[in-house]
Amino acid sequence: MSQYESEIKRRRTFAIISHPDAGKTTLTEKFLLYGGAIAQAGQVKGKKNTRAATSDWMEIEKQRGISVTSSVMQFQYDGFCINILDTPGHQDFSEDTYRTLMAADSAVMVIDAAKGVEAQTRKLFKVCAMRDIPIFTFINKMDRETRDPFELCEELEKELGIDTYAMNWPIGCGKEFKGVYDRQNRKVIHFTSNTNAKAATATEIEVNDPALADLIGAAKHSQLVDEIELLDGASCDFDMERVRHGKLSPVFFGSALTNFGVEPFLEEFLRMTTAPLPRRAGEQVVDCFDEEFSAFVFKIQANMNKAHRDRIAFMRVVSGRFDAEKEVYHMQGGKKMRLSRPQQLMAAEREIIEEAYAGDIIGVFDPGIFSIGDTLCAPGKKFLFDPIPTFAPEHFMRIRSIDTMKRKQFLKGVEQIAQEGAIQIFKTPYTGMEEVIVGVVGTLQFDVLEYRLRSEYNVELYKEGLPYEYLRWVVREDEDAQPLKEEDLLLPNDAKLVEDYKGNQLLLFASQWSIQWVTERNKGLVLAEFGGAKF
Ligand code: G4P
Repeated sequence: MSQYESEIKRRRTFAIISHPDAGKTTLTEKFLLYGGAIAQAGQVKGKKNTRAATSDWMEIEKQRGISVTSSVMQFQYDGFCINILDTPGHQDFSEDTYRTLMAADSAVMVIDAAKGVEAQTRKLFKVCAMRDIPIFTFINKMDRETRDPFELCEELEKELGIDTYAMNWPIGCGKEFKGVYDRQNRKVIHFTSNTNAKAATATEIEVNDPALADLIGAAKHSQLVDEIELLDGASCDFDMERVRHGKLSPVFFGSALTNFGVEPFLEEFLRMTTAPLPRRAGEQVVDCFDEEFSAFVFKIQANMNKAHRDRIAFMRVVSGRFDAEKEVYHMQGGKKMRLSRPQQLMAAEREIIEEAYAGDIIGVFDPGIFSIGDTLCAPGKKFLFDPIPTFAPEHFMRIRSIDTMKRKQFLKGVEQIAQEGAIQIFKTPYTGMEEVIVGVVGTLQFDVLEYRLRSEYNVELYKEGLPYEYLRWVVREDEDAQPLKEEDLLLPNDAKLVEDYKGNQLLLFASQWSIQWVTERNKGLVLAEFGGAKF
């Protein structure tokens, strides 16, 4: 195998998803610790409210009191080169969070063992599931009182619609958390101590070893024997193909805080995942081992430095090797170029890089030429990666500039921020140029918008909340068909026809009920939950 091939083969790029507080940061931190990327726990995030910034632009955001970054971290472990995509929590939740998942090849879903599936888990899971990427479940906080493990697995299956296969099984919980039973090797990993250092100390013992009962106690032993029987009898077979297609989620139990079960999980995860996944570009499938470089932009982070209005475009390398010395071709711009200041995040630092391989995430300085979903490839190659879906916002507002003389700055600012993908903007047939309907996935984006319009465009906003919560794209088979008019449709009072700035028509709804009402009464009307995507 050439060095080039082995570099790509050892890459793993995954996202960690969870509801806030389930332990995503703690788990990420433990991974980084095992990989030697950080020296001690607490470097990624300190105590509540004192989040240590992992990058200098996050520092800027921290000062502003807003955080809109999904960060990317790279580290090495056991010969693997791992890229972790972090998805921000509840308050920071934005469309960015969803788009970040487009750059991942698999997902680790962290579940709080006392709480089970929560709201944010559901949302993020849905996006991973629609791409059929492998989803691994880590049921965390076993060192606390938890819910019944069988019940937790059942809830995952029922609520998320994915089959589960417990790779290991917990022995007790809380203070009585003794270890896990590794189903494949039929061994018990008995946790003996945790020095809070790198890893937990553990001993392994065969499940049939008579000494096991002494080790974990007779009651726990007989419970374990019963549960193993139940598990082996009831659960579906382990099928790697189904794991690879996101139909079966391998489940692991552990405790990120005390390190119990974390390293075995990481090792098993790396063993079960594959080299970077291919991506579709129309009829073509671009494979990671294709000799020539290609990448797509999935995120644009504006305003790293206010004075320069600079932006960083984050791209996922899909194939080949990125060489900072070589020119690349920007398909949408129709131009050859050298990418400016290519950089990567290594745990706590940002680093200028010379090269990167398929699977890696790189950030490049963007003078305002890139848009979300853009394709970059080697000069001479010509293809466009399938578009990144536009996710439906859930909060809407009508906005305009208080000062009518500033209409131009207002529109310029709003359009610019929409182009970066932080907000979506719409108009109605009756809206004049001075008014815009803004949709966001997380309400924090409204604050970001208001802040940026004030500080960068000198515009103060008039805002009016709108009652809509759902957005659906109107699917037109015939691209040349006349746009629909409100009078063509039967709509209840709480639904509204709008248009985005690309001319797509959409419907806003205040309730699920209203969506159903409209689909039932308007025969032939086809609505889509995501915009612009093919899966
Ligand atoms: P998040 O990124 O998913 O939001 O969760 P995070 O890792 O920040 O963890 C949330 C809280 O849960 C933290 O406590 C963390 O220490 C705790 N935690 C994480 N994993 C475990 C675990 O395996 N067992 C137990 N018992 N607790 C765990 P906190 O008090 O809210 O914050 P901090 O003061 O410890 O930073």
